[in-house]
Amino acid sequence: MPRTRPAVRIRKISPDDLPKVRKLLEEHAHLFDPRFSPKAIETEIEQLRKYETGLVAERAGEVVGFVRYGHTPHRIDDLRNLGLAKPGQERHGYIFSLLVHPKHSQQGVGTRLVEEAIDRIKKMKYPDGRPIREVVMTHHEGNKGTARIGKKLKFREVGRVEASGRERHRLTVILHKPLRRGRGRAFRPA
Ligand SMILES: CC(C)(COP(=O)(O)OP(=O)(O)OC[C@H]1O[C@@H](n2cnc3c(N)ncnc32)[C@H](O)[C@@H]1OP(=O)(O)O)[C@@H](O)C(=O)NCCC(=O)NCCS
Repeated sequence: MPRTRPAVRIRKISPDDLPKVRKLLEEHAHLFDPRFSPKAIETEIEQLRKYETGLVAERAGEVVGFVRYGHTPHRIDDLRNLGLAKPGQERHGYIFSLLVHPKHSQQGVGTRLVEEAIDRIKKMKYPDGRPIREVVMTHHEGNKGTARIGKKLKFREVGRVEASGRERHRLTVILHKPLRRGRGRAFRPA
């Protein structure tokens, strides 16, 4: 009989996971562009520790992937330039970072992590207390995996912007997904 691999479980990150996520990032820093520097890894772990807005993918007790999500004003200029955010309407959730161990990739783990992160973003509030209207995810132009996840989860590519600091790719692709609330109703901002 063929041996089946243990199932992958997606769950909220806990403080005990932080050293495992750090190790995952250190071992696969080169998969990002620019590569995750030791300083950037430090910041990533600090953000996860502080806000706890992270999920891990666990298989047989091993952390094989993670996602960090939240809300942020840091894409507002891009969204404004693309005509997507009018003053006072900037309330986007964001997929900050996503990593799946190559041994466990192309098995749907990345898709599940982003899907679950979106579900959690829907329940978050922007700092002014209002609900979040949309989710933004970005990737460099050569990142086929993230592009495909975006397509599967019904993000729309809304623009490409020059990225600073990249080593291999010039452009950042901006993916955008309006959130729906309630029973399938399109969410209308206040
Ligand atoms: C990008 C990444 C998160 C994808 O994770 P994953 O677990 O492989 O994603 P999934 O298995 O859910 O794949 C989703 C789709 O993308 C496809 N895909 C994944 N990696 C791919 C690749 N390198 N090239 C082409 N297609 C790819 C899968 O086949 C799947 O398509 P399908 O549903 O039509 O079969 C993972 O490859 C990774 O961590 N890469 C390095 C870090 C990185 O780039 N992070 C994102 C920064 S924005």
